[in-house]
Amino acid sequence: MNKLLNWVDERFPLSSLWNDHMGQYYAPKNFNFWYFFGSLALLVLVIQIVSGIFLTMHYKPDGATAFASVEYIMRDVPYGWLIRYMHSTGASAFFIVVYLHMFRGLMYGSYKQPRELIWLFGMFIYLALMAEAFMGYLLPWGQMSFWGAQVIISLFGAIPWIGDALTLWIRGDYVISDATLNRFFALHVIALPFVLVGLIVAHIIALHEVGSNNPDGVEIKKNKDENGIPKDGIPFHPYYSVKDIVGVIVFLMFFVSVMFFAPEMGGYFLEHANFVPADALKTPEHIAPVWYFTPFYAILRAVPDKLLGVIAMFASIAVLFVLPWIDRCKVKSIRYRAAIYKVNLAAFVVSFLVLGYLGMLPTTPGRTLVAQIASIVYFGFFAVLWYTSKNEQTKPVPERVTK
Ligand code: HEM
Repeated sequence: MNKLLNWVDERFPLSSLWNDHMGQYYAPKNFNFWYFFGSLALLVLVIQIVSGIFLTMHYKPDGATAFASVEYIMRDVPYGWLIRYMHSTGASAFFIVVYLHMFRGLMYGSYKQPRELIWLFGMFIYLALMAEAFMGYLLPWGQMSFWGAQVIISLFGAIPWIGDALTLWIRGDYVISDATLNRFFALHVIALPFVLVGLIVAHIIALHEVGSNNPDGVEIKKNKDENGIPKDGIPFHPYYSVKDIVGVIVFLMFFVSVMFFAPEMGGYFLEHANFVPADALKTPEHIAPVWYFTPFYAILRAVPDKLLGVIAMFASIAVLFVLPWIDRCKVKSIRYRAAIYKVNLAAFVVSFLVLGYLGMLPTTPGRTLVAQIASIVYFGFFAVLWYTSKNEQTKPVPERVTK
């Protein structure tokens, strides 16, 4: 075996790649629950790619046959229902995992110097993931696929001067049609997965360049022993490769429970209107995106003017890109930050959840008012952070990691 390994190593840096990223990658020894979600996101990525490949073997990207081909997968293809539910549950699971992963970053200041690029790559991953989910949702060619895409693409029509030409270009037709379905299929199965995988590789290379943050926000590289190994670090393999298996097993218990017993999740993971074939002549009573988009949809609807609504919606995502420069506090972890940060972050999370809930419901004047207040709280998080973070009264940060 050693001879074979040497033979490979002389031609390909296998051992050094393994050591750099696993066996001799020193991660802080105090990772907690919140550090499971990066590896879980990788797991869901694999689930989506593998189940997606099998779906593609039977799916037909054609306006006349797409809906029926999905029914065929569900009823006639052996275990087709399993593959499809794996993919549809995986889509929601992806966002649950990624939202928790991002929230960890907020709590422990993982976006701060020197990890700004990890965060930026993460934000581009998030954008690509949203595009991936949006395009995938058109493919079953149900009522909600069709009308959801209609609503979102028409938003681009609000852009002055180029709006109409742009929507025409995106759709490839004057309405959502077979041409739109075909290009969304191409982007969903080839282009965006490539972009996603490339960004994830960059995300992890950036992470391994600077090293992981941790729940104390202490830089473990500042305290090394005589061999140059961080005193608070442990090799990723075997310590975290084994620990992550615990996260994987618990996650899969939830995942398969949903997949087998509640794949529609009461209409949240698979919307009821999408069991009706797309009909360009019949608008559904209530059009709502899938749950993971609803916070942004609620912000869009909270603003009375269409163009300003579109701007607010895009701004609500764009502002996250500049978070590393909005937060001027030197202390990373929430453990050692002032109460104002904790309250502000809690308000942000509540506003996000409230917006997400409202975005699923039809509007009423009362709900619009609540959505407006929640939108102000959402953007207020960043304003308050910028204003208070520079001179924040923080607690002393320990030299070494605690627990
Ligand atoms: C497909 C999506 C993603 C995958 C597969 C992924 C993967 C990973 C992995 C494996 C880690 C190291 C393990 C861990 O710290 O949990 C990590 C760390 C990190 N990720 Fe992601 N990530 C994804 C999306 C995102 C997004 C959307 C953001 C934020 C915008 C983000 C921000 C970060 C940050 C800041 C770290 C460093 C955390 C720390 O050291 O405390 N990631 N990611």
